[in-house]
Amino acid sequence: MSTPQGPYQQSYRESIDAPESFWLDAARSIEWNTPPTKALDDSTAPTYRWFPDATMNTCVNALDRHVRAGRGDRVALVHDSAMTGQVREFTYSQLQREVALFAGVLKDQGVTVGDRVVVYMPMIPEAAIAMLACARIGAVHSVVFGGFAAKELAARIDDAQPVVLVTASGGLEPNRTVEYLPLVRDALEMSSTPPHTVVVKSRTEVGGSAADVDGGGAAWFDWDELAKDAKPADPVAVAATDPLYILYTSGTTGKPKGVVRDNGGHAVALTWSMKNIYDIGADDVWWTASDVGWVVGHSYIVYGPLLVGATTVMYEGKPVGTPDAGAFWRVIEQHQVAALFTAPTAIRAIRKVDPAAAELEKYDISSLRTLFAAGERLDPDTYDWARKTLGVPVIDHWWQTETGWAICANLRGLEPMPVKSGSPTVPVPGYQVEVVDPTGKPVAAGTEGAIVIRLPLPPGTLTGLWRDENRFHASYLAAFEGYYLTGDSGYLDEDGYLFVLGRSDDVINVAGHRLSTGSIEAVVASHPAVAECAVVGIHDELKGQRASGYVVLESGVDIAADVLRDELVAMVRDQIGAVASFRDVTVVEALPKTRSGKILRKTMRQIVDHEEYTVPSTIEDVSVLNALEQQLRTREGT
Ligand code: COA
Ligand code: AMP
Repeated sequence: MSTPQGPYQQSYRESIDAPESFWLDAARSIEWNTPPTKALDDSTAPTYRWFPDATMNTCVNALDRHVRAGRGDRVALVHDSAMTGQVREFTYSQLQREVALFAGVLKDQGVTVGDRVVVYMPMIPEAAIAMLACARIGAVHSVVFGGFAAKELAARIDDAQPVVLVTASGGLEPNRTVEYLPLVRDALEMSSTPPHTVVVKSRTEVGGSAADVDGGGAAWFDWDELAKDAKPADPVAVAATDPLYILYTSGTTGKPKGVVRDNGGHAVALTWSMKNIYDIGADDVWWTASDVGWVVGHSYIVYGPLLVGATTVMYEGKPVGTPDAGAFWRVIEQHQVAALFTAPTAIRAIRKVDPAAAELEKYDISSLRTLFAAGERLDPDTYDWARKTLGVPVIDHWWQTETGWAICANLRGLEPMPVKSGSPTVPVPGYQVEVVDPTGKPVAAGTEGAIVIRLPLPPGTLTGLWRDENRFHASYLAAFEGYYLTGDSGYLDEDGYLFVLGRSDDVINVAGHRLSTGSIEAVVASHPAVAECAVVGIHDELKGQRASGYVVLESGVDIAADVLRDELVAMVRDQIGAVASFRDVTVVEALPKTRSGKILRKTMRQIVDHEEYTVPSTIEDVSVLNALEQQLRTREGT
């Protein structure tokens, strides 16, 4: 099989050889206040900026532009809550009104261009409204996933230093409600730079309102009360290079990284991607089953589909259990979804409960053209099942919070290519993907190495880490000069298809949620009975990976293994959040280390996952490794 020499090759070559004309041309698909005359500013390389002399407004492009074009009655957003059984629809005109009004609320609270607003919300339309309202007035939103606990929220508040925090009374998880207000108050109390105002959207399903809370150094207001007195705010033109949002993601240390996204490059890239990667336009209904707290939710629940005037479905629920494994098929039929984008974990969850897809018989999903998967590796088994079950192309694509959109994909709009199971296909125009050895030399096709991207990255990718230039350079640019380090390892085959094998650092992916083993380790290590510990990401049939903890007890400590486990699980849940799904704890005699004291986490993971491994030559005491292997194997046998 060889890579086709058609529109993809042409487009790819132009994006690399003539980036100015390629991206200025793409830029014509959005509305500018001052159109760009220049695409790339490389004057501060290796940090780059796109569309340096242009101004625009992202919210105008997502809403006002479509209303002005006479498409105000088109449904912009469908909120489908499997948790409440309710569906709410907003046309472009209605959404524009709601967003402008909430932008007015934010202005009344003193929010101005460049100010940060933290959004800690469940999957309700007001989350998208708050994001777009920030974009409208040039404020910078920072959405924090609702599954994170108070301490994680506080860490993000301290870094972003928001003036306002927008939240809701709570979220709905199967069999429980998550009350946000006590969490927010605790986070504010832990924070050294709390916002001066908290705005609370009350939900009838979850008790608690702004009137019930105070403290944390902030004034608490009710969303609807403030909206009554507010005037709709006009959009503010910002520089294309101004930040639209900060999104925190897990790095290798406990401190989250504040990925900064700009306005202009982001709008151009996402608009280009909707047409060329996803083949979605203004007449389509598009559904991303993710959460607004993750990058997939930012790009493809909120911004991407609205930028092209499509209808976006926002789903509050799970793939299974809300109420059954037919939930996704029901949503596709009910809203006539043309393309669904979800994480492989969701497909695995459905398959586990309903392997024969009996639920599918009850629904007509003929509107569905394509299933897109990302967030973690799409394993060939899950791929095969989805393809056979749904009878539509199943398209894996690979990207990261940092890039904001796909690095490698099968570009369904530009030129569909043959699918190779296990591969997200080929580099997207703008991304020069290479695989290199530890010295930075490109490796031969089929050989595994570090996946890197030659600079500059295309528009829409991170412009830096929030107020941490040093960490930005150290994390991404320092390893190989002139390249961005993805942190993933893999190989390119002879047709130029990329195969992503996994992270080569301490970042793990649990149910499509990106977590740092380092931050879980820090919590486990703080238990008084624990002398030292290692947390590694091991294979999990359903969630792809899960965090597994190995602890060495302080000498003389006598604590039952199940008591210790329960305490550690509770601590991780309390300090990081339920989303960490931390449940495995094993007490071991010692941890295998190198002579310089580095814990051999990779080797431990290989032992647990029954992979072949070589004993590192730098090992301090090989008997520790042997004892550990024996213990883990014996435990499995019992
Ligand atoms: N707010 C509060 N808690 C949340 C939450 C949120 N927004 N999202 C998840 N949680 C909680 C869950 O209730 C669960 O709590 P529990 O331990 O009390 O059961 C815990 O965090 C772990 O969540 P998760 O790993 O998602 O497991 P789950 O059992 O709730 O659901 C799946 C399993 C497969 C259904 C679910 O992980 C899924 O749909 N994954 C798709 C992945 C996805 O959307 N990724 C986004 C990137 S594309
Ligand atoms: P996040 O920043 O949460 O989007 O997570 C990014 C990481 O998820 C990547 O660095 C990969 O390790 C993994 N990932 C995302 N998409 C894929 C994919 N299609 N195939 C393999 N890994 C993926």
